[in-house]
Amino acid sequence: MNLRIPGPTPCPDNVLQAMSKQMINHRGKEFGEMMTRVTARLKELFQTKGDVFILTCSGTGGMEASIVNTLSPGDKVLSLSNGVFGDRFANIAERFGADVTRVKFEWGRAVDPDAADKALKADPKIKAVLATHNETSTGVTNDLEAIASVVRKYDKLLLVDAISSLGCINLQVDNWGCDVVVTGSQKGWMVPPGLAFVSVSQRAWQAHKTAKMPRFYWDFTSAGDFLQKKQTPWTPAVSIFYALDVALVMMLEEGLRNIFARHARLGQKTRDGMKSLGLTLYAADEKYASNTVTAVNSPFGIDGKKIQEVMRDEHGIVISGGQSTLAGKIFRIGHLGYVTDSDIDDVIRELRQALPKVGYKVPHK
Ligand SMILES: Cc1ncc(COP(=O)(O)O)c(C=O)c1O
Repeated sequence: MNLRIPGPTPCPDNVLQAMSKQMINHRGKEFGEMMTRVTARLKELFQTKGDVFILTCSGTGGMEASIVNTLSPGDKVLSLSNGVFGDRFANIAERFGADVTRVKFEWGRAVDPDAADKALKADPKIKAVLATHNETSTGVTNDLEAIASVVRKYDKLLLVDAISSLGCINLQVDNWGCDVVVTGSQKGWMVPPGLAFVSVSQRAWQAHKTAKMPRFYWDFTSAGDFLQKKQTPWTPAVSIFYALDVALVMMLEEGLRNIFARHARLGQKTRDGMKSLGLTLYAADEKYASNTVTAVNSPFGIDGKKIQEVMRDEHGIVISGGQSTLAGKIFRIGHLGYVTDSDIDDVIRELRQALPKVGYKVPHK
């Protein structure tokens, strides 16, 4: 099977093999050495000199951690959302008692940094901004650098969901001034689900000192104290650490610039391939189309779920459907992490065969 969903993504063989190793003492020397290694390497990939914590959870746990560690109930928060995951970020903040102003953008379009500017100007009491770097549900990458520069202008806290972009698309945590940035192991990191990585800036630490939202498992103070001892506060997912240890070496060997270039090339290849089949992208402006996931409109009202089924059952390729109101209306192709040109060639070739089976006549090459 060619697993072409936007996470979990396929893992290289050596990453999988690493996970078959015996357990070790998570309070012992061997784990401590691994923890030091992977934390240092993660910092390189986050492009930060700040702290990076490894939490045992999926990406959503990291999103929750970013909120409960920096905010108090009643704090005003600005949510910039253009899809399912932007809405989720706002929902988490609201659930913990934040007073959330939601600025919503049409799905398929990018967040407009000027709208963020207006909202921050209109309400000086806003303390933090929630942004999604890559909106996986619509295949749109927001201009985080521009958003961050607006947030810096007003000197607010910037919490970023970079779950499906970090390690694939350029995100300069320190240079752009992002305060907490979250990602998940099952995305661009070539590792199974189970760990989230979060960076914490000095500004975020300041906010943390007075943040009153309830937290126990996610507490950054505990994470920081235990990191000094080269440990995590709670029992970590040791096998996923083994996988990460190997995957990070591969990533740094490839190099950040090459990783970004590969994702840009494969993103373009996927988009060009869809257009060659006569299909249209869900992203309204290709300038913002994501280099990690491509969302494609199902042609002529054909149920996107049917396309998924035929691709899986008859062509050995697993693609994703649309989420929420986009169910059946789009399908999505993941191209992040351990992915090569031939994986994308496969998808385009097999889609050309599969689409006529669901009633869509593919134009000649
Ligand atoms: C942008 C984004 N945010 C949040 C999530 C949620 O992450 P998880 O399913 O790992 O909790 C995902 C996962 O698809 C995502 O792509």
